[in-house]
Amino acid sequence: MSNESWRPHLHVAPYSGSISDPNGLTQFKGTYHFFCQNAPTYPGDVDSAHGWGHFATRDLVHYVFLGCHVFPDSEADKDGSYSGGAYINEETDELWFYYTGNVRDGEGDGTYSGRLANQTLMKSYNGINLQGKQVVLDNSGYPAYCSCHVRDPKVWKQDGLLHMMLGARTRDDKRGAVMLYDSPDGVTWEMAGSVTNLAEKPFGYMWECPDRIVLGGREFLSTCPQGMATALESQGSTRPTCQNVHAAGYFPIEGSIVDLMHLDSERMGAAGPRPAIDDATFVDWDYGFDFYACQSFVDEQGRTILIGWMSLPHDENDVRPYDNPTATWRGCLTVPRVLTLNDAGRICQAPAAEIDALRRDRVDVGPGGITVEPKLADLVLTGIEGDGVLRFGDFLELRAEGGELTLAFTDDAVGQGRKLRRAQVDALRDIRVLVDTSVLEIFVNGGEVVFGTRYFDEAEEIHIEPDFPTWTGELYFMDEVTVDYLVTR
Ligand code: FRU
Repeated sequence: MSNESWRPHLHVAPYSGSISDPNGLTQFKGTYHFFCQNAPTYPGDVDSAHGWGHFATRDLVHYVFLGCHVFPDSEADKDGSYSGGAYINEETDELWFYYTGNVRDGEGDGTYSGRLANQTLMKSYNGINLQGKQVVLDNSGYPAYCSCHVRDPKVWKQDGLLHMMLGARTRDDKRGAVMLYDSPDGVTWEMAGSVTNLAEKPFGYMWECPDRIVLGGREFLSTCPQGMATALESQGSTRPTCQNVHAAGYFPIEGSIVDLMHLDSERMGAAGPRPAIDDATFVDWDYGFDFYACQSFVDEQGRTILIGWMSLPHDENDVRPYDNPTATWRGCLTVPRVLTLNDAGRICQAPAAEIDALRRDRVDVGPGGITVEPKLADLVLTGIEGDGVLRFGDFLELRAEGGELTLAFTDDAVGQGRKLRRAQVDALRDIRVLVDTSVLEIFVNGGEVVFGTRYFDEAEEIHIEPDFPTWTGELYFMDEVTVDYLVTR
């Protein structure tokens, strides 16, 4: 199978090179701009410095790829224009993008010395021409307890003040934290607070990609704690959470994140970030094998949309656990997932309605299942009662047993070494699967639990077979999401 055969048709992927974290997600004057970490020279140079690749779309269905629009070409970001977010400046009618300029400086190990994290501002009047690179915060603005890992700015305005959250790793106890900076103008930033987990034991050694999500008047702190699977194992945890080495999830917050962080009165002078968050409240965004570094934004319709990077590449030893056979390109994004709050106060995720609109012919799915070719479909199972299993070919199954859901690869080659992931539900009621070439997104119980995974089966078709005591099934063949690569890298 050529590596082109793995190319997804509902999920945005690069023509060549590698993509990872979604960055600068926004909708500005009607156009959606989805940037993402992009190493255009992959696979020539796996470790080449990352910039921001740019996908743009008017309708979440037809995309153009415009190349790398933030390039690590200055002294302040020479080793990577790392992740960050977009802020719509209504006063100037501009988009302001904030990202971390990564600089490996001198001999140090990059954690305790030898790395600069330059929080950098670029402005744009249209989302395509990004101008100037202004470092607005550098290492001198981080408290002494921080290691050199401070990154991934998320900026928003609240009560007349601009706020920036940054993910951080502390120096002594290697714990993840989020720091808050306040600014009157988006250029001058002052430390305004911090937060970390309550327990003495760190909840991951670094919190990457912090984000603030507001739904139904409630605030959620989203973050990606690194080094989790190993950390929880050593604590003997059996809770099905953080099963990937680097996790992605959210903490529900009482009141506002800004108020919570402002309680850190010592700020730059503190001995460490302020412990305030109960580890046990962490909810995984996705229980599959491949979800990380997600980011949210609110679009012009007021929808809160989450997009994640779907191709988690590292294990605890920082080596690739599976050999992604996409030789000349790597990585893809989830479909845009619209977030809503259910009655239980839990965030539910659903593919944006624009994806539903790609549905074409509908067929009933009965006992014995259905074979789909090409692998491009939307499967909906409702009215599920009792324990059972949903089989994908002979390589993957989603099993429900007494409130526990397991997603398991039964073929090592197709799973590329990944084995099993778990989640809990009160009872399994419905399942929706976006079936794509090399990608599956599985939404359970109205999106209360989601499993996303890449898979690498050689067959042109996929056979999907539900086996539950009671269920009803329908499947829609789909039109595809298109990406017009104006440039190939
Ligand atoms: C998350 C991350 C970010 C960083 C970026 C670099 O995957 O490590 O923290 O900004 O990737 O590519």
